[in-house]
Amino acid sequence: MRIKNKVALVTGAARGVGLAVAKRFIAEGARVVMADINEQALAAVAADLDAQTLVLDVAEEADWQRCSAWLEANFGKLDILFNNAAILRAGMVDQASLQHWRQLMAVNADSVFLATHYCLPLMEADGGAIINMSSSSALMGMPEFCAYTAAKSAVRSLTMSTAVLCKQRKNGVRCNSIHPDGINTDMVREIAMTLPQHVDKDYSRSIPFVCQPDDVANLALFLASDESRHINGAALNIDNTATIHPPY
Ligand SMILES: NC(=O)c1ccc[n+]([C@@H]2O[C@H](COP(=O)([O-])OP(=O)(O)OC[C@H]3O[C@@H](n4cnc5c(N)ncnc54)[C@H](O)[C@@H]3O)[C@@H](O)[C@H]2O)c1
Repeated sequence: MRIKNKVALVTGAARGVGLAVAKRFIAEGARVVMADINEQALAAVAADLDAQTLVLDVAEEADWQRCSAWLEANFGKLDILFNNAAILRAGMVDQASLQHWRQLMAVNADSVFLATHYCLPLMEADGGAIINMSSSSALMGMPEFCAYTAAKSAVRSLTMSTAVLCKQRKNGVRCNSIHPDGINTDMVREIAMTLPQHVDKDYSRSIPFVCQPDDVANLALFLASDESRHINGAALNIDNTATIHPPY
């Protein structure tokens, strides 16, 4: 019960990392709101869980306005914001379209701006934790994923600005980013189908130590809890040295 009674919003909660984190937060006593754009998948996974659900497109400002008003009306506050929803698409800078770039930036970076913009006011009275899912790719060049990596770098940068702002305001809100390498989820399995030359299709068996959604959930729980009270603005790698000692 490390986050007992805390109100937590988890985006992209219908599968993968978001689902694992939502389950972990529920198990540790939080009042969890699971949000996702995929209404059907969300309803299916939440049916057996003690959580509320919210259908939300993280790239849409109107959805965040509706979400923050709903949180205010139902809980009066927010303690934990886990910005996780994202999409992965391949595209090199000289081949990808502007539309590709804008879509990736909208879903993966605008989303974190909008979430923070509309949810921070709900967190400032009591303090809280904002946890942003970035990626090890934010810290390196990956030509096949120019827009994805740029969006994840924007998430990292916004994390630092938010952390410093909250420190200056002494509002008790902390903001940190998580940087995994490949996680064993459908996101990677689906992209592997489009990139047979780069990624083994049987991803889970091709890498001896592969990050699991629960590995991220363990770190997210620590960052969400008061145990990490002095950790603010950090970029936490969860990659078994991949970032400090490439190649993967
Ligand atoms: N899987 C990896 O290898 C990996 C590595 C590093 C970082 N990450 C990051 O971890 C996070 C979770 O990744 P995952 O592997 O669980 O992904 P996933 O594709 O398995 O799940 C993503 C979830 O987000 C939802 N979603 C997508 N677009 C949305 C939108 N516009 N609004 C609301 N919900 C939306 C999807 O419906 C899905 O349920 C992402 O931020 C991803 O970039 C993943």
